[in-house]
Amino acid sequence: MKEQLQVLEQEALTKVEIAQSLQELQDVRVAYLGKKGPITEVLRGMGKLSPEERPIIGELANKVRGNISEAIDSKKATIEAAQLEKQLENEQIDVTLPGRPVNVGGPHLLTKIVEEIEDLFIGLGFEVREGPEVETDYYNFEALNLPKGHPARDMQDSFYITEDLLLRTHTSPVQARTMNGMEKKQPVKMICPGKVFRRDTDDATHSHQFTQIEGLYVDKNVRMSDLKGVLDRFAKHMFGEDREIRLRPSFFPFTEPSVEMDISCKVCHGEGCNVCKRTGWIEILGAGMVHPRVLEMAGFDPKVYSGFAFGMGPERIAMLKYGVDDIRHFYTNDVRFLKQYHQA
Ligand code: PHE
Repeated sequence: MKEQLQVLEQEALTKVEIAQSLQELQDVRVAYLGKKGPITEVLRGMGKLSPEERPIIGELANKVRGNISEAIDSKKATIEAAQLEKQLENEQIDVTLPGRPVNVGGPHLLTKIVEEIEDLFIGLGFEVREGPEVETDYYNFEALNLPKGHPARDMQDSFYITEDLLLRTHTSPVQARTMNGMEKKQPVKMICPGKVFRRDTDDATHSHQFTQIEGLYVDKNVRMSDLKGVLDRFAKHMFGEDREIRLRPSFFPFTEPSVEMDISCKVCHGEGCNVCKRTGWIEILGAGMVHPRVLEMAGFDPKVYSGFAFGMGPERIAMLKYGVDDIRHFYTNDVRFLKQYHQA
């Protein structure tokens, strides 16, 4: 019996030794140490032994079981460690590999320009207002001194919805709305960014929909020099401190006098080059002193109050600032165009 046990032990230990997987080890455990295994079998026959032999064989059997079990446990640890090692090797990350670029969005160039302009004017004490895109004929034209049949209405071809409703052709109606809406007339200082619509054929410099920012400042003793000062600050802020402005006489029915503002060409600084069509100046916006009729219609006494207004196109400003050569780039949303300005 003693020999039988020793042979079994040897056999089992050899099998443990050559086992390659946890499953094989488990099989050895079941085969040798299980209830139906040969060692249990041997122990069952102990009844036939003499009382002297019994404890000796008993002890030996326990020792054999212990040895086999220990060998299995230690082999199991070895296999598991090897498996872990292999897994770690497979999952190894090469930290020197270049990363996959993550595509992140960013604000649209136009949004940035509008926000930049808003920030400047907020700093100058202006409020930011909004008005409806579908506007009444009254606010879009009449309240701005453009009565029905006035030839200057043709300056802005319009999309009419009904006889009395249209898509606003400019942000100027917000001037009239703001002043009209005030119960108690008091100084107004606001800008209004928004979409405007005109019946234009789309090309590199025209779009049937574009953006404008209106400005209005009404108070006692507002003068043309105030307008000039604010516009000069605006031009230098947006285009660089070395820019000069020039006001040219112009005509808008809602301002008197009316001007158009040019900035000095950044390429030639007024000398004349291709960018400025040899004039040295680039037109930026329209402005003027609020027409007394407009003030009056909005309930402001033109003898007490005066004001200035201006209207500009952020697309044009962005085009000049960043050299964008086609207004349609703003609306066709080609990411190759858009992403160039994420850092701008
Ligand atoms: N509303 C005018 C336009 O769209 C611009 C403007 C605004 C001119 C305010 C003067 C004063 O052309």
